[in-house]
Amino acid sequence: MRVHVADHPLITHKLTYLRDKRTDSPTFRRLTEELVTLLAYEATRDVRVEPFDIETPVAPTTGIKLSNPKPLIVPILRAGLGMLEGMVRLLPSAEVGFLGMQRNEETLEAITYANRLPDDLSGRQCYVVDPMLATGGTLADAIRYLADRGADDITAVTLLAAPEGIKAVEEALADLDIPINLVTGALDERLNEKGYIVPGLGDAGDRLYGVV
Ligand code: URA
Repeated sequence: MRVHVADHPLITHKLTYLRDKRTDSPTFRRLTEELVTLLAYEATRDVRVEPFDIETPVAPTTGIKLSNPKPLIVPILRAGLGMLEGMVRLLPSAEVGFLGMQRNEETLEAITYANRLPDDLSGRQCYVVDPMLATGGTLADAIRYLADRGADDITAVTLLAAPEGIKAVEEALADLDIPINLVTGALDERLNEKGYIVPGLGDAGDRLYGVV
């Protein structure tokens, strides 16, 4: 997996407020959206494009447009929803699929409880969004799910990642021979015994949407 830590003062500044336990949900949601737009900019560096002829008021020229099939954005429910708006803002013509995955808090394993995705993802570039790459179980399952349906280039976008999670994803997907990328806002120190990222920001879903 090609890992890119988006090391930029604006990202670190916004992440600092996101990590702060005093930050309320509305501010947390807004900061997440702003951060995702910055991360999406990095994540789409290799988005597939094709030449596109236009005329300016002065002369004809050739630019580019997104190729077909359009990229697919896949937020992992529930916390990934908080990152959807920021991604779509940067890639308005992308399609959106949903994957419902939940962590079993005891075994820390991921369970798929819902999906709304095209069956055939042949030739699709996919952007999986989930705020926290912690144990890596959910992300590895999500990426395999997309690769099994034909996705041939997958980029995960996360706010934070733990070294253990990156290692786990790499090990779980070692047999896949498609490009897999990770763009994250920061690489944190470690996981604690409950599978939380340290220092992290707590439970991203709860901080976005409250404890339900
Ligand atoms: N999921 C979260 O929301 N936070 C963590 O720290 C780990 C997993």
